[in-house]
Amino acid sequence: MKNQEKVQDLIDKRVQAKLGGGEKRIDSQHKKGKLTARERIDMLLDDGSFEELDMFVTHRCTNFGLEKEKYMGDGVVTGHGTIDGRIVFVFAQDFTVFGGSLSETMAQKICKVMDMAMKMGAPVIGINDSGGARIQEGVTSLAGYAEIFQRNILASGVVPQISAIYGPCAGGAVYSPALTDFILMTEDNSYMFVTGPKVVKSVTGEDISTEDLGGADVHARKSGVTHFKLVDEQEGAMLIRKLISYMPQNNLEEPPVYPTNDPIDRLEDSLNSIIPDNPNHPYDMKDVIHSIVDNGEFLEVHRHYARNIIIGFARFNGASTGIVANQPNFLAGVLDVDASRKAARFVRFCDAFNIPILTLVDVPGFLPGSGQEYAGIITNGAKLLFAYGEATIPKVTVTIRKSYGGAHDVMSCKQLRGDFNYAWPTAEIAVMGAAGAIEVLEGRTIAGITDPAEKAKYVTEKELEYKEKFANPYEAAAYGYIDDIIEPRNTRFRVIRAFEALQTKKVLNPPRKHSNMPL
Ligand code: HXC
Repeated sequence: MKNQEKVQDLIDKRVQAKLGGGEKRIDSQHKKGKLTARERIDMLLDDGSFEELDMFVTHRCTNFGLEKEKYMGDGVVTGHGTIDGRIVFVFAQDFTVFGGSLSETMAQKICKVMDMAMKMGAPVIGINDSGGARIQEGVTSLAGYAEIFQRNILASGVVPQISAIYGPCAGGAVYSPALTDFILMTEDNSYMFVTGPKVVKSVTGEDISTEDLGGADVHARKSGVTHFKLVDEQEGAMLIRKLISYMPQNNLEEPPVYPTNDPIDRLEDSLNSIIPDNPNHPYDMKDVIHSIVDNGEFLEVHRHYARNIIIGFARFNGASTGIVANQPNFLAGVLDVDASRKAARFVRFCDAFNIPILTLVDVPGFLPGSGQEYAGIITNGAKLLFAYGEATIPKVTVTIRKSYGGAHDVMSCKQLRGDFNYAWPTAEIAVMGAAGAIEVLEGRTIAGITDPAEKAKYVTEKELEYKEKFANPYEAAAYGYIDDIIEPRNTRFRVIRAFEALQTKKVLNPPRKHSNMPL
């Protein structure tokens, strides 16, 4: 072959490689409403920034006559590119090649970009669309998965890892996404489960559809496995780009700052009257969040799961901030097993990646009952407590209304190394609510009063006395547990000033191999 022919041969090979499993299979992918691996990467990254690696890798399997069926790239497209000019490493499983099933060589390709991401200190984004282990390859495929898992584990807390699920993700394959920081699933085409509906039927007799067992909706609402449920892959690409904008490249860097025109001293008058006079009436904590962050922009994470607590990212004067807030609009903002787990993992993500946390508190306590006790509210509540107490990033807490009992301690109180703990004048910081407290303290006296009117009068008087003494922020402020009581409409300014003061914060935990948090 002459040299010029060699160049043409390369060009032809590249065209061939880009067809993956061929036009027919690409058409079939499109008919299902799915994009191809390269289309997905192109949509995700800055225009023209993708540099593909290992395009000429092919599998080495000779079982079941597989040596006669080879595709360049072998079932996954890998490489690097940029998002808003910042480098990221990506892999996208190519369903047109053996259903995106994982071969030994495919695992090697994925591991290569993961290793590079670690070496360069850059995020890894994985797009999953795969029939699982390549059946013809047997144990080498299982070993390949384990090589990926090991890298997911070592990269955890070092570089951000995001997994998009745009097709099947079943069996042990689910564990790579599960080890990453954030999972996104499309509504129509994706599913995740350890065993599919057929195995479920044969083992337990349960009849259940793919969708009901592992679709995006159940994982967004019930299991909490996915952090985001998407209408389509376009939404996924936008969301990943946005998510990345709140994160640093790695654990040794700070998140990027996006300058804002939103004045730092903007007063939000509506906040002075947002809290209803009746403490049992709800309000929407998201209104508080939207009105204090830069330009009202808040990227909520886990929107459909454990809605009694809100988590997500926003910016204060351009600086990325994680927000954790009780939601009085749902289950009165009570802390339960799911809410504790949800918030704990988020706090740990923020702490690992130098993202300060603002905690907005309105919590009546932990949800009582055998259901919660049997589900391990003790261990799970301890997760959130542990996460806050272990976190060394700047922590600012604003108590909006209720802050009762153990939940008061858990929600980033002063003694868990809260840096600035503020309260609105509407705050109620006490061991328990007035009704419960009076029942315990005055139960015997109340029982002794026979006249119902007299009894009611006595209870009301005692509750009022308790409320005046405890259902306010001044008792806690008198001890210095609350650093200041702030005017609600000035919250944005006070929070920004607090985070500015914390920019040089340095706190180290004692040296140890690792903590043993309650899991
Ligand atoms: C090899 C596979 C494959 C696999 C699909 N294909 N899965 N090839 N190994 N695991 C191939 C098909 O033969 C087909 O090839 C092409 O991919 C597309 O598959 P279809 O079945 O036509 O597509 P669809 O109807 O959309 O169904 C997708 C599917 C189904 C639901 C994923 O293919 C399926 O059930 N596959 C098997 C899933 C599975 O049991 N995997 C192993 C799980 S165990 P052609 O040539 O026709 O295009 C596992 C353990 C992991 O993963 C453990 C990790 C620790």
